[in-house]
Amino acid sequence: MALHERPCDILSLLCGHHAKIWPMEGFLDSLKISYTDHQKTTASTSAAVVFIHGFPFDRTMWSAQVSAIGASARVITYDHRGLGKSPLREQPFLFESFVDDLMALLDQLHIEKAILCGLSMGGYVALRATERHPERVKGLVLCDTKSDADPDAAKLNRHKDALLIQNEGLHAFAIQFVRRCLTANTVQTNPALVANIEAMIQRCPVQGVIGTLVALATRTSTTDSLSHIKAPTLILVGDQDAITPPSASQMMKERIPGSVLTVIPQAAHLSNLENPHAFNTAFLRFLQSLSR
Ligand code: MLT
Repeated sequence: MALHERPCDILSLLCGHHAKIWPMEGFLDSLKISYTDHQKTTASTSAAVVFIHGFPFDRTMWSAQVSAIGASARVITYDHRGLGKSPLREQPFLFESFVDDLMALLDQLHIEKAILCGLSMGGYVALRATERHPERVKGLVLCDTKSDADPDAAKLNRHKDALLIQNEGLHAFAIQFVRRCLTANTVQTNPALVANIEAMIQRCPVQGVIGTLVALATRTSTTDSLSHIKAPTLILVGDQDAITPPSASQMMKERIPGSVLTVIPQAAHLSNLENPHAFNTAFLRFLQSLSR
């Protein structure tokens, strides 16, 4: 599998042969997955945390977590196929392809076992990856997500969203969607964050967003497998999350053995962006517990 890695080339030359400068952007040719390896050490013992973004965002949504966690672990962020800088490939594709992509990325980066942290759609991917490949999961952080499949009404809403994008464009969708994801208070008091998320959505390829809506409608439930999860699990949810509400997190907590649930105050569906301090504090505490 061909892999293009792009460390800081000039410094690399100055430092000699195989010096790598972090963070390093990479692109998996065969999968067309764009990623960043934020690793600062090549120590094979350091834990690898793979952040899996939600729909329809990109890996930049994890910036505050990369800054907070980067010193404690090797951090990988990537863009799902058809979103961010990962171009759309063959259409149609099913939800399972997102899990295949994640596994191929782990293989390519020689990560045997990872701590998977997924938000919303990223959490769906992390849950299915844990069900299909439990031996690859060292820890699980499930943020603003759920294990149940979409009810019919949610599938029909995906159709409405696809029509909105087709007829009025990503801009119209972004304006609506961002307001579903954030608390009213954040929308009023943090216009910079609102603009940042809207821009993130609009940077995605239009057909990629529509293709992802279709693929999300093919997701099946992982609820029955929750009680088999062996990896230490942290569940995070914004106290005002209306898309994947705290009740869904509470249900997962009751089923995943030994899992811990932390409710993030003053946050809705994008808890890592709305209250990064509370989110990062809980995350770092979890990471420390894993290394003990
Ligand atoms: C997300 O944030 O990933 C989406 O809201 C998930 C979904 O639409 O089910």
